[in-house]
Amino acid sequence: MCRTRVMAVLWLFGLSVGAVVLRTGLASSITYADRLATPVLLGQDLINRDPAQVVGPDACAECHENEHQVWMGTAHRTSAQTLTRNAEAKRIAAAIGVRRIKTDERCATCHFTIQKIEDKRPKSISGVSCESCHSAAASWVEPHSRFGHNAATADDETLLHRTARLSNCDSLGMIRPARLYELGAACYSCHSIADQELIQTAGHPNGEQFEFASWTQGDIRHNFVRAGSDENPRSAPERVRVMFLVGAALRLEYACRAVTDGAPTDAITNAVANLGAIDEVVDIDAVSQLIEIGRGVEGAAVAAEAIEHVREIGMLIAENQIGADAAQLDPLIPASRTREGQ
Ligand code: HEC
Ligand code: HEC
Ligand code: HEC
Ligand code: HEC
Repeated sequence: MCRTRVMAVLWLFGLSVGAVVLRTGLASSITYADRLATPVLLGQDLINRDPAQVVGPDACAECHENEHQVWMGTAHRTSAQTLTRNAEAKRIAAAIGVRRIKTDERCATCHFTIQKIEDKRPKSISGVSCESCHSAAASWVEPHSRFGHNAATADDETLLHRTARLSNCDSLGMIRPARLYELGAACYSCHSIADQELIQTAGHPNGEQFEFASWTQGDIRHNFVRAGSDENPRSAPERVRVMFLVGAALRLEYACRAVTDGAPTDAITNAVANLGAIDEVVDIDAVSQLIEIGRGVEGAAVAAEAIEHVREIGMLIAENQIGADAAQLDPLIPASRTREGQ
């Protein structure tokens, strides 16, 4: 992104990203120059779902058997198998003139994984799957699991190789668990539903209940590689807290986007109120700044810069793990989302 534009955005809000880092008082390896080099693509999701680059969940299963097993039982996979026969889905589709749920973009982009092989027509190959969240994998699937010389395993990998491998995967678009804001943005790209015709005319759920931290820790949780075991534990409380703050920033970002697309402005009011409740229990500058931006756009036309700025702050929260030690957040974090618990 061009430097003058970034400076103008910062000037506009009267604060600098560098100051956010300084005032949180956390030692950070992320420099101001790094921030400027991070592509923030307005109006575009960070996730790549190009059907021509989708390899499909079976390609992951050979090495990630545990993760695949968990995923098989989630609503992401199972509900898509019956969606075309589901009476409610048929009613929603009919209400907006969609005839083929499985192929029409107005449903398929969120309910299915679409793959295109060579010059054949794009096809829905499964429900929401690995690459819906981790990004289309054709370019990164091979390098993410190459650990040195041909026979090297993850245990043999040198630190130097690991650093180079991960940064290569990032540049190829892989969304790793470490890239929390991008991972959460993948969820929001489907769970924030901006199409007003879909909600108002067809009565599709509006997605307002979604919450990033608790919805990752229930039914969809798969935590094997990182935990180094088959137990699939919840993520550590420190990580869940950061996810909770990242989620609150994402909620504001996607509310701003939805309002730009014609959603009622309540979405922003609610996202600000959600941040307000957090601000009552913690003293974190990034949170106050998000509230300030949210208040600035409530009821007004949402400036593109506001969306961009929310995203910058959200990414800083993720990268600096802001809120990790704030145990006072725990009572605010909803129970892990499971089908049984609903
Ligand atoms: C050839 C085996 C292999 C295949 C195929 C494979 N993976 Fe992996 N993957 C691994 C290994 C091994 C690791 C652990 C790396 C480590 O310890 O850092 C890993 C790690 C990961 C991680 C965690 C990375 C991190 O930073 O913690 C994600 C996410 C992931 N894989 C997703 C996928 C997806 C999605 C697919 C299918 C598109 C896939 N993998 C296919 C072997 C594979
Ligand atoms: C922007 C993404 C998006 C689009 C587009 C979309 N959906 Fe959904 N849909 C979702 C999400 C996310 C949920 C789950 C909402 C929740 O639980 O908060 C959902 C839920 C549903 C449900 C309820 C499922 C259940 O198990 O109760 C039905 C039915 C449905 N969608 C049908 C459709 C149909 C038909 C279309 C196309 C006309 C469509 N959706 C388009 C994202 C989308
Ligand atoms: C490609 C679109 C897409 C992405 C990406 C996505 N979801 Fe979903 N999700 C859906 C749809 C559609 C449903 C509704 C399935 C149904 O019941 O028909 C759903 C349902 C769910 C459910 C179960 C329904 C419920 O009400 O409890 C959970 C939990 C969930 N998503 C969590 C997440 C999380 C967390 C992320 C990100 C890490 C995420 N999803 C990413 C589309 C998506
Ligand atoms: C709905 C979004 C979503 C889908 C679908 C999804 N993941 Fe993940 N994945 C995540 C999230 C979120 C995390 C980090 C969760 C956390 O930190 O608690 C993660 C973490 C991981 C990890 C690192 C943790 C571990 O298990 O070792 C791997 C590997 C992984 N995913 C592979 C896969 C594979 C393979 C699939 C498909 C079979 C898949 N994921 C499907 C969202 C998703």
